[in-house]
Amino acid sequence: MFRALALVPLLAALICAVDALPKITRTGRYLYDESGNRFYIKGIAYQEQGVVVVSADNPFGEPSSFVDPLAMESACNRDLPFLQQLGVNTVRIYSVDSTLNHDACMSAFSKAGIYTIIDLALPLNGSIDRVSPSWSTNLLELYTNTIDAFSKYDNVLAYNVGNEVVIQNATNVAPYVKAAARDIKAYLKSKGSSALVGYAAINGQAGWRGDLANFLSCDPSNSNSDSTSIDLYGLNDYEWCGDSTFEKSYATTTQAYSQYNVAAYFSEFGCVSSPPRLWTEAIALFGSDMNTVWSGGIAFSYFPAASAAGQFGMVTISDDQSTVITSDDFDKLKTEYGQINFINSPSQTSAGSPSYPSCPASSSTFLASTTLPPTPNEAACNCLESTLSCQFTPQTANYSAVVGEVINNACGLLGEKGGSCTDIGGDGQTGVYGRIAACDPIVKASFVMSQFYEANNRQQVTCSFDGNGTVNQAAPSSVSAANVAASSCVANPNAVFTPSAAPTNGAGGSAQTSGSSNNNNNNNNNHSGSLAVGVDPNALLGMTLMAAIAALGGIFTLA
Ligand SMILES: *[C@@H]1O[C@H](CO)[C@@H](O)[C@H](O)[C@H]1NC(C)=O
Ligand SMILES: *[C@@H]1O[C@H](CO)[C@@H](O)[C@H](O)[C@H]1NC(C)=O
Ligand SMILES: *[C@@H]1O[C@H](CO)[C@@H](O)[C@H](O)[C@H]1NC(C)=O
Ligand SMILES: *[C@@H]1O[C@H](CO)[C@@H](O)[C@H](O)[C@H]1NC(C)=O
Ligand SMILES: *[C@@H]1O[C@H](CO)[C@@H](O)[C@H](O)[C@H]1NC(C)=O
Repeated sequence: MFRALALVPLLAALICAVDALPKITRTGRYLYDESGNRFYIKGIAYQEQGVVVVSADNPFGEPSSFVDPLAMESACNRDLPFLQQLGVNTVRIYSVDSTLNHDACMSAFSKAGIYTIIDLALPLNGSIDRVSPSWSTNLLELYTNTIDAFSKYDNVLAYNVGNEVVIQNATNVAPYVKAAARDIKAYLKSKGSSALVGYAAINGQAGWRGDLANFLSCDPSNSNSDSTSIDLYGLNDYEWCGDSTFEKSYATTTQAYSQYNVAAYFSEFGCVSSPPRLWTEAIALFGSDMNTVWSGGIAFSYFPAASAAGQFGMVTISDDQSTVITSDDFDKLKTEYGQINFINSPSQTSAGSPSYPSCPASSSTFLASTTLPPTPNEAACNCLESTLSCQFTPQTANYSAVVGEVINNACGLLGEKGGSCTDIGGDGQTGVYGRIAACDPIVKASFVMSQFYEANNRQQVTCSFDGNGTVNQAAPSSVSAANVAASSCVANPNAVFTPSAAPTNGAGGSAQTSGSSNNNNNNNNNHSGSLAVGVDPNALLGMTLMAAIAALGGIFTLA
């Protein structure tokens, strides 16, 4: 009796040990499991499409809301047998809510040998806005909250710091993405996590596609350091349509990445323009023409995902959410995935030593400085905020819907008074970043509002901003004292600050509700079937005005 009971914990421990998925790590440009076998991502995108507003300049339609698929136990259990039929070892998830519980889904997937690639950005104000980019405290916190929520699981393969953020006419956003990769990498290291840092790129034109890939995996300090490099480059590639061949579809792209230094895979694939999809590209992707360059890919998409180009989904879910109905598309992918044998070479010992080359030069088609935005420093921003004499106090909790306009108005007014908004702006092309550009939009708004208020000798009415501002009675009593206090908060904005896990992790974290104004993030690439996380160009509209506002020196400036 006693002996039998005593065995229970031991048995449980054994079962756990058996169940734990092997860690996947990167050596050079390849991924390996703990036994030294090459790891290939045989995956599928797993996220229901959010609310999408399709417009002329947003043909795919990026979602403005999301449902976290890893927080729905019954849905995961419903879908798991189908994921297993497909034989996938990885699912890609585009948006998760760190405040929810993911234990059931993560554990079910882990037991089934399924890893996750988790995108850290969220729709709207939860991602780097390519129209007025910023890598700021609120985004860093959003990203690290998600990592904190998922770090206890054994089946997180990678975290993506962005999806299709950089596009043809916004290559100057690349330094912000690289800054995010740098900080997330440092954060994961501080937690002792071996999860990979990834980015999923749109399949852009040759003039900048390769530069971006190299930029994300280069070392700006020319010392072969990995500290700002991604580990896993994803290409959302829809080049193989219908009954095609390697030569006709993937050869050129594969050649283009033949010298790449970190692991690469197709973060989405599965063109719908010549139906039915045959999924024969999967055989090519994992075959000997491609396996030395790519580590597999993510078929797009398990759930229905409609675009102007067509329907990417492979299953439909019954109205009562209980039943999965598969399509021919599903059956064909199952057949093709079922025929794949991973080629176990090169071996880990011959994978080569790590290499982080110097960064590509900026060019007329790739406008990215190797001077990256600084690491967002929440303590500095909070300190600054406490000194500001006029504070942004929106009447709505949904402040992201108004903050852009408030900043915009305040910058306009400040400009008329001879002030400037350069301290809250930045430019990824020149590599010049305002000294509080990494603070969140609330602090930025308060900062600009305070400047205007000070410029008007603290006349109360000039802190109103139509009811969005409140005088901060606790602020230093004079303009000059406020200036000194504010400056001391951000005295050394370039000081190296490494985000690291707090010694004790509270359950804290801001709930992210999304669904503010319509976003028109422009995915004008017909290959894109992405559930790309949108950004709200209106959120920080003020930034676009900044260039037009003359900098005539300070009324209340950071000395
Ligand atoms: C890119 O071009 C599109 C249309 O040509 C435009 O709507 C969009 O605002 C541009 N984006 C940036 C960041 O300039
Ligand atoms: C987005 O805005 C909402 C309010 O509208 C806020 O609660 C949330 O924290 C914001 N998210 C980020 C990442 O800034
Ligand atoms: C706050 O600012 C927004 C945007 O400018 C404006 O629409 C709103 O009327 C202002 N006042 C209040 C009380 O929200
Ligand atoms: C936030 O405001 C926008 C409009 O500005 C609205 O469409 C959205 O529903 C609001 N979100 C929430 C959670 O109230
Ligand atoms: C899709 O892109 C390809 C190559 O980028 C181009 O040749 C084709 O015309 C595009 N089709 C549409 C419908 O835009």
